[in-house]
Amino acid sequence: MKIKELDFSENPLILAPMAGVSDVGFRNLASYFGADATVTEMLSARAMKHNPKKTAFMTLTTDAEKIKIAQIFGHESQFMADAVKSPLLEKFDSFDINMGCPAPKIVKNGEGSALMDDIVLASKIITAVKNSTTKPVSVKFRKGRECENYLEFARMCEDSGADFVTFHARTVAQGYSGKADYEAIASVKAKLKIPVIGNGDVVDEASYKLMKQTGVDGVMIGRGSMGKPWLFAQLKEEKVNFNKFDVVKKHIDILREHFEENWLKLYIRKHLLWYATDLPMSASIRLKLATCDDIDACLTILKEAFSQES
Ligand SMILES: Cc1cc2nc3c(=O)[nH]c(=O)nc-3n(C[C@H](O)[C@H](O)[C@H](O)COP(=O)(O)O)c2cc1C
Repeated sequence: MKIKELDFSENPLILAPMAGVSDVGFRNLASYFGADATVTEMLSARAMKHNPKKTAFMTLTTDAEKIKIAQIFGHESQFMADAVKSPLLEKFDSFDINMGCPAPKIVKNGEGSALMDDIVLASKIITAVKNSTTKPVSVKFRKGRECENYLEFARMCEDSGADFVTFHARTVAQGYSGKADYEAIASVKAKLKIPVIGNGDVVDEASYKLMKQTGVDGVMIGRGSMGKPWLFAQLKEEKVNFNKFDVVKKHIDILREHFEENWLKLYIRKHLLWYATDLPMSASIRLKLATCDDIDACLTILKEAFSQES
């Protein structure tokens, strides 16, 4: 798949933007295991202007990332247009506009998925961002909020100049529950000329196969890769030799280059718990990790646990 100057592989896999999860270390690992593109956590266009320091740590990248996409959110077209010109985002290859976030604190500001109820403003924002950059611009949206208007919304994205779209086929009310609607994904794919990235519930080979049957041009993966960045290699059927402990250690080493230990030990715990999910005796290992207050001691617990996996 080629989108302007972005050269994805034939069946591109993209790491989803996940606030509090898609950090620089995790994006590095996903890329190492074959993700063609990675997306930052959502970045507030307003914060980028008024408090760029708050955003800076989310825009860290490493050279391992192949196609680097920054996701922005906001409801003011001028802030959104300015955001993609921010020096913080200079190193990114493409920009994604968040029009799907269901979080109440985002929606009440008329941002994220609230824009699905205001198609005129959504279009204005896409046009403003497009006019502000020569790099490819995409939109990520859901099935709808007040009504399931995803087909009309998808068409609007295309007509407003989006270079591609990512469709998470759940309504806002669903949050992350229920099943992603792959028929809806197929219908969006059938309706648009621009590439469509399908998103929702791809966690293994079987779900990946179902998603590909919708005809999408690429697949975005979020939760399925938590604690399992090697999922990208498995889905690409690429043989990558790796040791799980080295993967976790690398995640931490990258974050240690940028963050203070006291912050990191609180932040990294959820990732460590995810890394321990499928282990034998997972419950007792997770309990030990949850009560361990030192990153190196947590690493020792995981090293021992991984060594007992066969
Ligand atoms: C913890 C978490 C944080 C998320 N943050 C974002 C975000 O910042 N921007 C966004 O567009 N979607 C966000 N999402 C939604 C995911 O990108 C994705 O659309 C959703 O999880 C469905 O894909 P999956 O089934 O592969 O996880 C988030 C999801 C989770 C679980």
